[in-house]
Amino acid sequence: MRRILFTFLGLALALPAAAAPDGAKLFAQNCAACHGSDGHGGVGVPLALPDFLGSVSDRFLTATIRHGRPGRVMPSFKQLSDAQVKAIVAHLRSWMPKGVAILSATDIPVAGNPLHGKALFAQNCAVCHGADGQGGSGTGVTFSRPRNLPIIPPALNNPGFLAAASDHMIKTTLMHGRRGTPMVSFLKKGLSERDIDDIVSYVRSFSKHPIHWRPGNDDKPVLEEESSYSLEQTVENVKRAAIGHNFRIIRVQTLENGLFPPNQEDKHEVIVYFCDFGFINKALKLDPRIGLFMPCRVTVVERQGKVMVMSINPKYLSRLYNNADLDKPCTQMTQAYKDILDEATL
Ligand code: HEC
Ligand code: HEC
Repeated sequence: MRRILFTFLGLALALPAAAAPDGAKLFAQNCAACHGSDGHGGVGVPLALPDFLGSVSDRFLTATIRHGRPGRVMPSFKQLSDAQVKAIVAHLRSWMPKGVAILSATDIPVAGNPLHGKALFAQNCAVCHGADGQGGSGTGVTFSRPRNLPIIPPALNNPGFLAAASDHMIKTTLMHGRRGTPMVSFLKKGLSERDIDDIVSYVRSFSKHPIHWRPGNDDKPVLEEESSYSLEQTVENVKRAAIGHNFRIIRVQTLENGLFPPNQEDKHEVIVYFCDFGFINKALKLDPRIGLFMPCRVTVVERQGKVMVMSINPKYLSRLYNNADLDKPCTQMTQAYKDILDEATL
C-alpha cells in the first residue's frame, strides 16, 4: 500500500513539470522558420523589436497567433493549446530589454473622424500599406526581391490584424513608430495627436469591409490521369506536351534513381522534371516556399498493366501557403499540369 502511495505521489509530482510547455522550443518548431530563431525576421516581420513588443498587449500576441493573417502568409495556429500559446508569448516577451514597459494595455476605443483620417491615410500611409490598407506585396525581411523597403508593410485591412489590434495599439504605433523599421513616428513627422486619432478611426473602419479571401479550393491534392499508351510512349508524350507549354525539360529519371544500382531500380516509375525559369523567378519573389515544389515534375508509373500519370495540384497546395498573392500563379500551374496530363494521355 505504502509503495503504491509513493509511486502515485512520485507520478503526481513528476507529471506537471514534464507537461509545462517550453516556449522557446515551440517557437523554434512553429515560428522560427519565418521569423528567425532570434526573432529578427525572415519571411515574417521581425518580432524582437523593443518598440513592437512595447506597443502590443499579450492579448494582441495571443490573438495574432490564434487568427493568423488570412491571405498574408502568417498562418493561424489553431492546433496549439492555450498553455502552448501562452508559453510562446512568454518567449517573445523574453526579448524585451529590461526597463521597456508595455505601453498599450487599454481597450478604450479612440474617437476620431474617419473621413479626415481617410484623406490623411492616402497622403501618409498608402504609399507603403496600399491604398486600401492591403499591405505591401511579398513577405517579411528577406527574399522577395526586387523591393524598395527592407521590411514588407503588413496588411492593415486584414481580419486577423483587426481582430487582434486594439485602437490603442494602432495609436501607439503611429505615435511612436518602430525604431529599426520603415515605420516612423508620425507625431515626429508633424501630425497632431488629433490627426492620429482620425487615422486610427479610419483604419478601424476597415473592419466594416473585411476582405474575404479563401485559399484555393480545388479538392484533390494530386492530379491523375490514366494513359492509353505504353510507359515509354507516355514519358515521350509528357516531354512533348511540357515543351509545347514553353517548359524546358531538365531531366528524366526513374523514381528510384540513385537509391539502387542502375540495373536493380524499378523502371516502372519515371519522373519527368521540367521548368519555366521566368515563372519560377516570379513565383519565388512572391513566396520563397514555392521553391519546395520546383522544378515541376510529372510522374509516370506502370502498375498491373495500367499506366498512370500524376502531378501535385498547386492550386490545392496554395491553401498551405496562406498567401493570396500566390493564388494566381498556383491556378496557372494547375492548368498547365492538367493540360500536360491530358495531352500526354489522350
Ligand atoms: C515607409 C513605409 C511606411 C509608411 C509611410 C507607413 N508605414 Fe506603417 N509600417 C511599415 C512597416 C514596414 C511596418 C512593419 C514594421 C515592423 O516590422 O514591425 C509597419 C507597421 C505598421 C503597423 C503595425 C502593423 C502590425 O501588423 O503590427 C501599423 C498599425 C501601421 N504601420 C500603420 C501605418 C499608418 C496608419 C501609416 C500612415 C500614417 C503608416 N503605417 C505609414 C511601413 C510604413
Ligand atoms: C509561414 C511564415 C510564418 C510563420 C510560420 C509564422 N509567421 Fe508570424 N508572420 C508572418 C508574416 C509574413 C507576418 C506579417 C503579416 C503581413 O505582412 O500582413 C507575420 C506577422 C506576425 C505577427 C505580427 C507582427 C506585427 O508587427 O504586428 C506576430 C506577433 C507573429 N507573426 C507571430 C508569430 C508566431 C508567434 C509564430 C509561431 C507560432 C508565427 N508568427 C509563425 C509569417 C509567419
